[in-house]
Amino acid sequence: MSEETELSSQEKLDRQHMARAIEIAAKGSYHTYPNPLVGCVIARGDLVLAEGYHKQFGGLHAEREAFAALDPKQSLDGASLYVNLEPCAHHGQTPPCIDAVLQSGIKRVVVAQRDPNPKVDGRSLEQLTKNGVELVTGVLEKEARELNVAFNKFMMTTRPFVIAKWAMSLDGKIAARGGDSKWITGEDARHRVHEIRGHCDAIVVGIGTALKDNPRLTRRGVEGRDPARVVVDSTARIPEELGLVATARDHQTFLVTTNLADPDRLKRLRSLGVNVIKVAFEGQRVDVNDMLDQFGRRGWQRILVEGGGALLGSFFAHDLVDRVHCFIAPKIIGGDKAPSPAGGTGVSAVSDALLCSPMKTEALGQDVLLTTDIHEW
Ligand SMILES: NC(=O)c1ccc[n+]([C@@H]2O[C@H](COP(=O)([O-])OP(=O)(O)OC[C@H]3O[C@@H](n4cnc5c(N)ncnc54)[C@H](OP(=O)(O)O)[C@@H]3O)[C@@H](O)[C@H]2O)c1
Repeated sequence: MSEETELSSQEKLDRQHMARAIEIAAKGSYHTYPNPLVGCVIARGDLVLAEGYHKQFGGLHAEREAFAALDPKQSLDGASLYVNLEPCAHHGQTPPCIDAVLQSGIKRVVVAQRDPNPKVDGRSLEQLTKNGVELVTGVLEKEARELNVAFNKFMMTTRPFVIAKWAMSLDGKIAARGGDSKWITGEDARHRVHEIRGHCDAIVVGIGTALKDNPRLTRRGVEGRDPARVVVDSTARIPEELGLVATARDHQTFLVTTNLADPDRLKRLRSLGVNVIKVAFEGQRVDVNDMLDQFGRRGWQRILVEGGGALLGSFFAHDLVDRVHCFIAPKIIGGDKAPSPAGGTGVSAVSDALLCSPMKTEALGQDVLLTTDIHEW
């Protein structure tokens, strides 16, 4: 018997309405930040009475949108309220949603995921049960968690969700032996990278990549947010003529560096519009743990580390990557000297390798995108 046929009719209904709540929540993408994506459905049986989602930061929350859409003459007898994230319990830009839910008199609430925000963290769920509301939790929780995965991690750790991304040939090379990497993948794959960038607060590269590729690191040709550009450069050796510095006034640009950098040089870079973040050093290089803490303090919830191999190797060595997007092109570059995605020392036995979740695949023209998670939030 399949999982679906084993479900009771109530469970099937709960999943159906929660799936809709998650679907409409996603419509707030790019606009609710730094708030999470939340959708709400009020239904009796199969019949949807009202729905709403958090449309933009500062605007009504999903539950209040749904109540506003409800016919005031509509009785809520026998109705359930579905919401993908626990209603808020605190005064933010708007009053607590839990008050609106309790005042409505609705007697059954279905929540997919508890809100990890320390200001909420189960308080609204408690209030619901205390007030005699039937509470069902965990319906489509996996899907709901994925929707707000970066928010979840940020709330739990005050650090951003870290995505590692690279493009490689079929034989696992991210550049040819001389360092040339333009272009390994085709246009569809590169378009997908811009979509991913549009969900991020920052794109991070090592100084090796900045020097070799002179990248723009901007989001182009797709809707989304404009991530900050970050170069990790322990001694501030980035040249003033490099595109990233020359365009620092047009696109937010950060240099992550250490006390090893010459203060005059940093002053000069600041005068050109580059923001400087000083972090601790580990060995002679940027301490990646301290860097993530500092990103968290800026409120960055999601960052995209685009390489190269040395920087990604450090992230993997410290087990700091949450998700990997690996684009593979049907090409063989070959050669012992051509770099691979995760540099550094690596592990000495396969049994010590970082374990990732089963991979999802996406065909992009001739290329494929493999996505896998190392940590779940
Ligand atoms: N195919 C792809 O997806 C892709 C993506 C990106 C790059 N690439 C290719 O990769 C090559 C560049 O890679 P790369 O490995 O030479 O350079 P990288 O990883 O971009 O930069 C490495 C440099 O970053 C600095 N750094 C500071 N702190 C660090 C830390 N904790 N860990 C590691 N590095 C740190 C170091 O220089 P300092 O000590 O001076 O600070 C280090 O030499 C180029 O050929 C580029 O085309 C390919």
